[in-house]
Amino acid sequence: MRHIIIDCDPGIDDALALLLAAGSPALELLAVTTVAGNRPVATTSVNARRLLDLAGRGRVPVYAGAARPLGYAEPRCNLVHGEDGVGGVDLGAAAPVQEGHAAVRLVELLAAHPPHSVELVAVGPLTNLALAESLAPGILRRARRLLVMGGALRVPGNVTPAAEFNFYADPVAAEMVLASGANTMLFPLDVTSSAIMSPSWIGSFGELDTACGRAAAAMLRAYAALDPLLHDACPVAWLLDETLFTGEPCHLEVDWRPGATAGHVLARFGEMMDGGHQANAMAMTAVRNDALLALVRAAIGTLP
Ligand code: BDR
Ligand code: CA
Repeated sequence: MRHIIIDCDPGIDDALALLLAAGSPALELLAVTTVAGNRPVATTSVNARRLLDLAGRGRVPVYAGAARPLGYAEPRCNLVHGEDGVGGVDLGAAAPVQEGHAAVRLVELLAAHPPHSVELVAVGPLTNLALAESLAPGILRRARRLLVMGGALRVPGNVTPAAEFNFYADPVAAEMVLASGANTMLFPLDVTSSAIMSPSWIGSFGELDTACGRAAAAMLRAYAALDPLLHDACPVAWLLDETLFTGEPCHLEVDWRPGATAGHVLARFGEMMDGGHQANAMAMTAVRNDALLALVRAAIGTLP
C-alpha cells in the first residue's frame, strides 16, 4: 500500500488522475490539494471535491491552495478544459472543501508521516509545493518521491514554443521545486505526448453504467478534441506499474525569469552533466501506451 497526496488543478486529465488513484486499492489517498492552474483555485477545488465524492472517496480531504503563481500578479489559466474545468459535465452537488491552506497541510502531512513514506504527485503548477518548501525548508525531501507532470525537455512546449503549461504557469515555483533536492521523477511532454487517448478507449467509458464511467465518458468527449493526451494520469500510473515507463537521470533547470522563454527547461543528460550539474531528477522518456490505457480504464471501471 502506497500513501499518496495529489496536488492538482482539475482539469480533465487531472480528473482522470484522481479517478485512477481512487480506483486503485494499492494506493491510499491521504489528501488532495488544489492550485490555480487550468482554472482559478476556487473552481479546481470544487472539481476535486466533486470528483472524489463521485468516486466514493468523500473521506479524502481536499485542501485549497495558491490562488496565483509566485512570479505573476494573476493566475495564468487556460480554457482547454472548458470554463468549469471539466468540459461542462455535471459532477453533482459541491460539498465544501476542508479547512486549511494546501501548502500548510502539505507541510503538516509530510511532517506527520515517517520520512520517505509519502508519494507526492503534482500535476498542476507547482505553487503549493514551492510555498510548502518556503514555509518549511527541506520538507519536500521528506517525500518518498515527487512525481511531477510538467516541462518539455527535448520537444517544443504546448503553450509557447519554449514551455509546457504547468511550468509556464509558475516557472518560479517549478525551479524552486526542482532545486529542492527532493527525489524527483518528471513526466514531461516528452513522455505524455505518447500517452494518446484512442477513440476506441474513450468510447469504452460509454459502456460503463456507473456515475464515474458516465462522467469520464462525457469529460473525455469534450477534452479529446482539444488535447488527446493523458498527461496527468502518467505519474499515478507509474506508482501502480513502473514498468510502463522508461526514464533517464538528468539535471534540470527552469528558466524562471519573465519573458518569452519563461518555463523553458534546460535539461542535461549523460555527458552534459558535469561536476557542477549532478542529476536532480529522473525524467521519463517513453511509455507503453496500450498498457497505460488499459490500466486507467480497468481502475475507473471499478468505481461507483
Ligand atoms: C498539463 O497542463 C494542463 O492543461 C494539464 O492538466 C496538464 O497538467 C499539460 O501540459
Ligand atoms: Ca493538470
